[in-house]
Amino acid sequence: MADYDRPHVLMMSEITVDGKLTLKRGASSKILMKYMAPETEILLHQTRAECDAIMVGANTIRIDNSFLTVRLVEGKSPLRVIPNSRANIPLNANVLGSDARTVIAVSEAAPAEKVARLRESGVDVVSVGADEVDLPGLMRILKRDYGVSRMMIEGGPTLNWSMLNHRLVDEIRLIHLPFIVGGADTPSLVGGMHIETEKEMIRLSLKRHFMCGSNLVTEWSVLYGDSLEE
Ligand SMILES: NC(=O)c1ccc[n+]([C@@H]2O[C@H](COP(=O)([O-])OP(=O)(O)OC[C@H]3O[C@@H](n4cnc5c(N)ncnc54)[C@H](OP(=O)(O)O)[C@@H]3O)[C@@H](O)[C@H]2O)c1
Repeated sequence: MADYDRPHVLMMSEITVDGKLTLKRGASSKILMKYMAPETEILLHQTRAECDAIMVGANTIRIDNSFLTVRLVEGKSPLRVIPNSRANIPLNANVLGSDARTVIAVSEAAPAEKVARLRESGVDVVSVGADEVDLPGLMRILKRDYGVSRMMIEGGPTLNWSMLNHRLVDEIRLIHLPFIVGGADTPSLVGGMHIETEKEMIRLSLKRHFMCGSNLVTEWSVLYGDSLEE
């Protein structure tokens, strides 16, 4: 997909020193987020305000029930985008509220009555993909029909992996939290990879690092396999 066909995508996450996104499988990341420095919370909201859209996976909505709005700085909340293949996120989810515009991306496998109920709640429902949401197709729709030039994704690991696997992520910004939580099945930044050889490693290049309050922030360009031939 040509770059002009889709939004520029920034992946942003707060992660522990051992690369985890939450305390244990099924736990809300809001527990960890309480330990972000106030300056870093502002950076997160500032970044949201600079983006036309923000995307998180359906499971993050189920577990964290995020609002995904801009609250700590002046600025407009971005368009909220949730891939949810079968249109089954809870109807009382905070993203279905009127605080900001929302697009729920479903697949053709979504039952019509569930799609109708989502639409009744006031959100846009876009169908793209046969069984699972087709992320490259969704990116094209966001650019073409919603004018999204810059989008951020805030996880979780399943969505992060799918986006990277389709080469749809351009940069990554990590807020490093000074904790180790462990746990072999605790969600980490990227799920689902299970690569066989080092050729499949996704290569990054460090662009910048700085302290934001008491948190280290690192910024990376995603190079994919482009520079692996050496
Ligand atoms: N620390 C942080 O910055 C941070 C940020 C966000 C989340 N989290 C944590 O991450 C955990 C949730 O992560 P998760 O990996 O379970 O779920 P997730 O990535 O939030 O959501 C994945 C779900 O998105 C839906 N989806 C639809 N189409 C997809 C596609 N093409 N590719 C990928 N996903 C697609 C699927 O659900 P359907 O089958 O319903 O469509 C899929 O199961 C929670 O514990 C949360 O607290 C942490």
